[in-house]
Parts: sequence; structure tokens; C-alpha cells
Amino acid sequence: MKHPHIIEAVKAYREGRNISERLRELLGVETNTPEIIEIAYDLQAGSYIENFTGPNALYYRQIGEILAPLVAGGQTILDVGTGECTTLYSMSRHAFSTDHQLYGCDISWSRLRAARTWLDRQDAALSSRVKLAVGDMMALPFQDKSIDVVWTSHALEPNGGREREALREIFRVTRKTVCLFEPSYEDNSPEGRARMDKHGYIRGLPEAIADCGGALREKIRLPNPTVALNPTYAFVIELPATEAAEAGSSPFACPNTGGVLEYKDGFLACAAAGLVYPILKGIPVLRADAAILATSFDRFD
Ligand SMILES: C[S@@+](CC[C@H](N)C(=O)[O-])C[C@H]1O[C@@H](n2cnc3c(N)ncnc32)[C@H](O)[C@@H]1O
Repeated sequence: MKHPHIIEAVKAYREGRNISERLRELLGVETNTPEIIEIAYDLQAGSYIENFTGPNALYYRQIGEILAPLVAGGQTILDVGTGECTTLYSMSRHAFSTDHQLYGCDISWSRLRAARTWLDRQDAALSSRVKLAVGDMMALPFQDKSIDVVWTSHALEPNGGREREALREIFRVTRKTVCLFEPSYEDNSPEGRARMDKHGYIRGLPEAIADCGGALREKIRLPNPTVALNPTYAFVIELPATEAAEAGSSPFACPNTGGVLEYKDGFLACAAAGLVYPILKGIPVLRADAAILATSFDRFD
């Protein structure tokens, strides 16, 4: 069963309790599994938009200043763990140009759905340039070396213990530069570290980056942290030079096989494998475990 504790999680959410902590207890695990992260964030869908105070909030100005020069030479840009796209939207004001092809993925469908309806209202032209899909950062639904610049904003954060798995995937799809806006366990205060431990947050990013083949060019502390116990650092990573992927082709790929995806009858199909993925209210669900095996998808039409 995929979500054996969903009813308990909904109850914990309604009672204002910490959902991840409750699910870790119920599952008897120390770290956040993808299912825990998905449930915890999906239940909170809409909350970032509700609390959004505008693209000029200090956090966005600070990260925009770092991101702008990194994306200047790139064409395709992916925000991994984009959530409700409030940070992506703000970066369209501080870092991105209208020439950029923007992609976002997140493990939570409901947050992307909230993002899409909100982006449509905020800036329809921008919304039409942002391609969104549900995807787990441990199996990103993108082709190898298909994206120029990949960035995150507090998205690796809850994946404590799976730092290397996530970074290997991010590096697999990135051609040039990765910029992670994430907390730094080792630089945090004792109280901050205790909070990160309690929430199952990441640690040891510089070592993990090196182990996965990235070169950490800079680690910059944002001068004015939004959450004092969870200050943001920018980890700017360069990857070894690679050949550019074929221009013009879609970077999306089957998260099970890496194969090309084609739109067919309202689904995205990986013809080579006979796997199809649903598109729910306009949001493709490109998680490995969302695949439907349908090797005869159009054989009997
Ligand atoms: C703290 S929120 C930040 C959202 C957004 N980046 C922002 O700046 O507003 C973390 C986001 O990362 C997503 N996330 C965490 N782990 C993930 C994973 N393994 N795969 C995909 N998304 C993930 C969550 O669903 C959530 O939307």
C-alpha cells in the first residue's frame, strides 16, 4: 500500500501537529521518506501563496542577486522542489529573462496545482513559459544533461540521509551549473542543528557534492536569514563540461527508463517501455510509481 497512514496524517494536520514527525513515528523510521515529504507538503498546499508578500521580499532579492549571473548564459532552467512557484515567480523579477525556458518539479501534485492557478492569475505570459511536472528529485523526470542551470530553494532540506542520491540525480540532468539555496548544518548554531535534526534535514552538503563529482565554487551565507535557526546558504556548483543535448527536444523523460515521452490521448507515454503517466488537471505526474503499464495502449484502437 502506498499511503497506509494517510488518514492519521490528515488528522495530525487538522490538529496542528507536525505531520512528518507523526509519520516517522508511525512508520518507525528515522529519516523522511519520499511519501512522508509528499504527504506533509501536499496537505499544506496553498499556504505559501497565502503568505506571499511579493517578489521584493528580502529573501528573494538576496537569492536573485546570486542566481542572476549564474543563469545569464543559460537557456533552460529547472527549479527542483518548486512548491507553489512563489520563489520561481520572484526569480522571474530578479534573475530570469523572457528568453529562458523555465521548468519546475515537485513531489506534491497539490502544490503544483496551486502554483499553476496562481501563476495564471499573477502573470499569464510567465505561466505559459513555465513547464511543471510532479517528480521526485531521487528520480527526476528529465533527460541526462538536458538543463543548463538547476537550482533549489530549501527543497533538498527535508531529505536528510539521501543527500548523495538527490545530488547524483540533479547532476545527471544538469549541463553546467547547480545552485542550491539550502541550510548548512555544519555552519548552524547548536539550537539550529538540533532543529534540523528534529525535522530530519540534510547535512554534510560540501562532502556530498564532492563525492558526486561536483566542484563547490562558492558557499555564500545570505546576509539576512528569514528563519534565524535555519539560515540559507548558496552552494554554487560547477559540473565537468559536457556536450549539449539536442536543441529543440523536450527535456522531460520517463522516470523509470529515461526514455522519451510523447503526448497520447491525455497521457504521457514512453512508447519504448509501454508505460504511461497521467496528466491530472494539466499537471503531468511523472513519478516512477505513478506509471501505468499499458504495453497495448493504442494497439486495439
Ligand atoms: C520548503 S519547501 C520550498 C518550496 C520552494 N522551493 C520555495 O522556495 O518556496 C520544499 C519543497 O520541496 C519539495 N520536495 C522536498 N523533497 C522533495 C523530493 N524528494 N522531490 C521533489 N520535491 C521535493 C516539497 O514538496 C516542497 O514543495
